[in-house]
Amino acid sequence: MTALKNDRFLRALLKQPVDVTPVWMMRQAGRYLPEYRASRAKAGDFMSLCMNPEFACEVTMQPLDRYPQLDAAILFSDILTIPDAMGQGLYFETGEGPRFKKVVSTLADIEALPIPDPHKDLGYVMDAVSTIRRELNGRVPLIGFSGSPWTLATYMVEGGSSKDYRKTKTMLYDNPQALHLLLDKLAQTVTSYLNGQIMAGAQAVQIFDSWGGSLSAAAYQEFSLAYMKKIVSGLIREHEGRKVPVILFTKGGGLWLESIADAGADALGLDWTCDIGSARDRVGSKIALQGNMDPTVLYAKPEAIRTEVGRILASYGKGSGHVFNLGHGITPEVDPEHAGAFLRAVHELSAQYHE
Ligand code: CP3
Repeated sequence: MTALKNDRFLRALLKQPVDVTPVWMMRQAGRYLPEYRASRAKAGDFMSLCMNPEFACEVTMQPLDRYPQLDAAILFSDILTIPDAMGQGLYFETGEGPRFKKVVSTLADIEALPIPDPHKDLGYVMDAVSTIRRELNGRVPLIGFSGSPWTLATYMVEGGSSKDYRKTKTMLYDNPQALHLLLDKLAQTVTSYLNGQIMAGAQAVQIFDSWGGSLSAAAYQEFSLAYMKKIVSGLIREHEGRKVPVILFTKGGGLWLESIADAGADALGLDWTCDIGSARDRVGSKIALQGNMDPTVLYAKPEAIRTEVGRILASYGKGSGHVFNLGHGITPEVDPEHAGAFLRAVHELSAQYHE
């Protein structure tokens, strides 16, 4: 394997010294980029991009080619590959988000769900990881990812996106054993899926708990965090002679940072609702932080974006342990020039905080 030319992302996750604060963007390969829209048109649809390793590699590289400031690549795929591999039949209705042909409603449905084998049932993801790793040729580290069991369960039970998670939460309170069985199957699947990605070449992994923040404090512990903990304890933490850092991102988890920091991961993703300096005071001695600019700041003028970047860097303060990111994914309406201004500002304004 080629040596890494830029490892500041991995170093910051392990709180080792860096020259500038590393930066990447959730959803950095996506619809705000005209080159992404062209590749999707060529492939036919979104899932064809995910399922063809050459296409997945092409779109993963697009933001890196456009923005030399990016310090990490993220596998182009989706969290919903797992429910698809469990037999739910994922499809995307244009403009309507994800949908499933089969929905999971009863204990019997959950008992019947198979546990996918990452190599047999999700081999196209493993192939995408190794293809991207080869193409990167040591330029920056590659991030693998999965959804959290709770976040995946909401899609599987609701049959798609949801505003209130009505069916999943009804199951949580009426039939907790059924939901626990589903979450347990998902935790097993996510563990082997992420380990497969690590063996195929992912150099860090992130678990997206996008909807953990919709739970009550008690339910978050029992139905989301407990399963992420289980996954973290089963992950391969060293590969190719290097640590493989794990990032947990619970959107809306700002009230629970102490317990998330105790889950055994290396870094914690923050959305924009918490102050990163206070988060550092609370958990920064235990864990690195990733985040946390409001993605809507990117609609504003480059000068306003730069001011906001400066404010967040000052709030975190001196030293390593911070990976700059947005507090959630970049949105399709963002002007690519504004994303560029954001990334440049992070490197330019952060040098003063590092020795
Ligand atoms: O970050 C990256 O660049 C890597 C690729 C990536 C995608 N999805 C590509 C994608 C990642 C890391 C994801 C994760 C994902 N997928 C999450 C967790 C992160 C988060 O945003 O909270 C979730 C909840 C999903 C589920 C999902 N996938 C939804 C709800 C949708 C439709 C809504 C939307 O944003 O369009 C998708 C589709 C999807 N996944 C797109 C992309 C680029 C857009 C599809 C298109 O091209 O039309």
